Amino acid sequence: MICLGIEGTAHTIGIGIVEKSGSKCNILANVSRMYKPEKGGIHPREAANHHVKHFPKILLESIEKADINIKDIDLIAFSIGPGLGPCLRTAATAARVLSLMLKKPIIGVNHCIAHLEIGRALTGCIDPVLLYVSGGNTQVIAFMEGKYRVFGETLDIGIGNCLDKFGREVGLPFPAGPEIEKIARKGKKYLSLPYSVKGMDVAFSGILTACLHLVKKEKLEDICYSLQETCFSMLAEVAERAMAHTEKDEILLGGGVACNKRLQEIIRIMATERKARFFCPPNEFLVDNGAMIAWTGLLMHESGMKMKLEETKVRQNYRTDEVEITWR
Ligand code: ATP
Ligand code: FE2
Repeated sequence: MICLGIEGTAHTIGIGIVEKSGSKCNILANVSRMYKPEKGGIHPREAANHHVKHFPKILLESIEKADINIKDIDLIAFSIGPGLGPCLRTAATAARVLSLMLKKPIIGVNHCIAHLEIGRALTGCIDPVLLYVSGGNTQVIAFMEGKYRVFGETLDIGIGNCLDKFGREVGLPFPAGPEIEKIARKGKKYLSLPYSVKGMDVAFSGILTACLHLVKKEKLEDICYSLQETCFSMLAEVAERAMAHTEKDEILLGGGVACNKRLQEIIRIMATERKARFFCPPNEFLVDNGAMIAWTGLLMHESGMKMKLEETKVRQNYRTDEVEITWR
């Protein structure tokens, strides 16, 4: 069975074409375009316009890459939430059009769960704790008693947002995460920042403010280094607590910030120390992508889930633990 999945929760519009044969996940194509604001943060309507503009091109590109006929597609999946309203509605509209034109079923996928499912499919882990770290989201998710549950999350901004905002203030291009990673490698001096873990939750805005205060006094490389070390240690602490609590021995990374090699190293060390296994899919599947939506759509569809067109209304605040899990 072949599914075309559309991702459009925030700044990325992506199309993935994925084939499922048995339990095997075969990625036929995974194409995306990212909206980069010239200055300031993401403007939801501008991001949506960007998605409208690029959709036709990436649709053709993905079909070409997959080397299929558009009629070979059996299912249309799209990111139904959570995310920015105008972006979500753009992806949903495109999905509805394709579903009607091709006369194929449509299914709306929870974005956070898609990050987890693509990680499971590509790395071979079975029942992991997912540390999902992106621009807008920072969550520790695990499967328990029939649902994916959020064990911990950010109380204010996402970790990626913290990095991007800091980067913007010091003149780094968007997205700043990868730039900060490079600069941090040169840092040597650890500057004390307000490490903030509350139970299994984390908070980043105090650290962001503290870093901005340091800009005039300290070297940028030392600030970037300290920013990463502090935030990533916090994430390791809450991920470890969730593993202990759920008694799971696999940790999986997801979300754009998980591309960071230092974060990967810290989480890997934590896992090794507790004799657990560490998993991380390739970068292309860590960042927002259409393939994860297509794959999760296939899992949902094969387990018997169906959605009427009227049920495809987007859900901006769609929570991970609201999703009915029929495929596990
Ligand atoms: P979501 O909608 O799930 O919140 P998103 O829109 O933020 O996702 P992603 O592609 O998952 O999109 O993540 C983008 C974020 O990842 C940006 O904040 C970016 O700075 C960060 N990022 C990317 N590469 C790195 C890196 N090497 N180190 C740290 N952060 C990174
Ligand atoms: Fe994401």
